[in-house]
Amino acid sequence: METLSDAGDNVLGNYDSVARRAMESLFRTFENFSEGTIVVDVNGRVVWINKRYAARFGFADPQEAVGLDCERVIPNSLMREVVDTGKPILLDIMEAGREPMIVMRLPIKDDDGNTVGAVGFALFDELKALTPLLSHYTRARDELAATRRTLEQTRRAKYTFASFVGNSPATLEVKRLARRAAQVDAPVLLLGETGTGKELLAHAIHAGSLRADRPLVTVNVAAIPEALLEVEFFGAAPGAYTGAERKGRVGKFELADGGTLFLDEIGDMPLALQSKLLRALQDKEIEPIGSNRIIRSDVRIIAATSADLPALVEAGKFRADLYYRLNVVPICLPPLRQRQADLLPLAYAILEEICRRTERDAPVLSDCALSLMGEHDWPGNVRELRNTLERLVMLHDGGAVDASMLAPLLGRRAVTAPAAVAASAPSPDAMTATEPVLPADPPAYADAMAQYEAAYLSQALAASGSNVPRAARAIGISRAAFYKKLVAHRAAGRIAPAGTAES
Ligand SMILES: Nc1ncnc2c1ncn2[C@@H]1O[C@H](COP(=O)(O)OP(=O)(O)OP(=O)(O)O)[C@@H](O)[C@H]1O
Ligand SMILES: [Mg+2]
Repeated sequence: METLSDAGDNVLGNYDSVARRAMESLFRTFENFSEGTIVVDVNGRVVWINKRYAARFGFADPQEAVGLDCERVIPNSLMREVVDTGKPILLDIMEAGREPMIVMRLPIKDDDGNTVGAVGFALFDELKALTPLLSHYTRARDELAATRRTLEQTRRAKYTFASFVGNSPATLEVKRLARRAAQVDAPVLLLGETGTGKELLAHAIHAGSLRADRPLVTVNVAAIPEALLEVEFFGAAPGAYTGAERKGRVGKFELADGGTLFLDEIGDMPLALQSKLLRALQDKEIEPIGSNRIIRSDVRIIAATSADLPALVEAGKFRADLYYRLNVVPICLPPLRQRQADLLPLAYAILEEICRRTERDAPVLSDCALSLMGEHDWPGNVRELRNTLERLVMLHDGGAVDASMLAPLLGRRAVTAPAAVAASAPSPDAMTATEPVLPADPPAYADAMAQYEAAYLSQALAASGSNVPRAARAIGISRAAFYKKLVAHRAAGRIAPAGTAES
């Protein structure tokens, strides 16, 4: 007859084996149902990995992974953390290659409760119960990626047609053509002097096109050394280049896929590359340097140049076939001097933008300042106008501006040149003449400039009745700058000490 204690021993013995069986069958169940199983030792080194899982991380034979640190096999592995803390990570999502995986990681303990390793299961299809969790996660992740892309787009298309200011007939015609260009997918060629708004218009055309939610990628041909242009356009396979290019590089054609490729300063394109560009445009295919990969590239081309492209074609410096390929929708941006009606609206729009950005008050332009602007040639076009206004805002925060203040900013003389200078300086004639006549023994450059500046400031001071703020305003520099220069010239003895009338 069994004693109570015998029965107890027996039951406990059964418990042990049931528990062991439970563990074994749990392991086998997970092993069967999981996409992958991995076991690591106390040092985080792979002890065992199943074939499917090893293959997923690029090991054709699981034995090749054995003995390696777990992170060398699975880049984002947290198995070491489980070994180190002795705590399981029951449900986690791991990003690994194509799709995220649900993973479970458990510590392995010895009889004394010490962690001697860890086992990880990557659960997949069979565990349907987890699918809602996974699809929820995947959707959230995709939404995040889409939002990031949209944000990037917004950053990329900086300008729209609304940013293109001007109501002159010439500008209205440019805008009409550009709007039409936005609606078609043909190449656009933007021609015009420097600073006429070609880049702005390229952004607006992209933003107004069906490709607006795809990238706008710019290649400034003039800014990239010739040797690097090809890689810039077409990309390079890993190892195709030494040094920085070892990792390979994605070309702008591939980056712009589905969107717009803006080829700025196309007139500067080296001839050799012109034929490669032409081929890429014709075939709609590119091949990264050093690879056998052919990439389909669907891009809309907008090219721009301030060069006289037909003249370059004539001179044999630009391929005629490429020119015709790009010149499908040509848009010529007229110089600012030919569209007087745009001057004021542009000036006010730019002033407003500068003042908003710099938190300053707009200077008030007098009639004579405005007519001086009208007479100016603006060789730098709207960019020159913008730069002039930037300087004006810095110098005359909220103040009234007349022609004499504006003149120096336009490279014109504001006050009559000094009539008398110190003995060692060149003769007054030498300074006022357009071509200076140097004395036989000319002073050093720095001395000559200092003498000239001292004379110039004295003259301005005299003309303003020794009123420093007025003199500063008259020659278009800040009061502080005028005082600073005055002090320096007085200390050097180039200008007489302050008179009592000076304010
Ligand atoms: N119509 C316009 N309305 C508002 N701003 C303009 C206009 N045209 C040009 N600008 C401004 O003038 C500056 C020069 O324009 P942009 O860079 O587009 O000229 P570009 O023709 O590309 O010159 P470049 O040939 O020198 O590259 C920019 O600050 C731009 O915002
Ligand atoms: Mg430009």
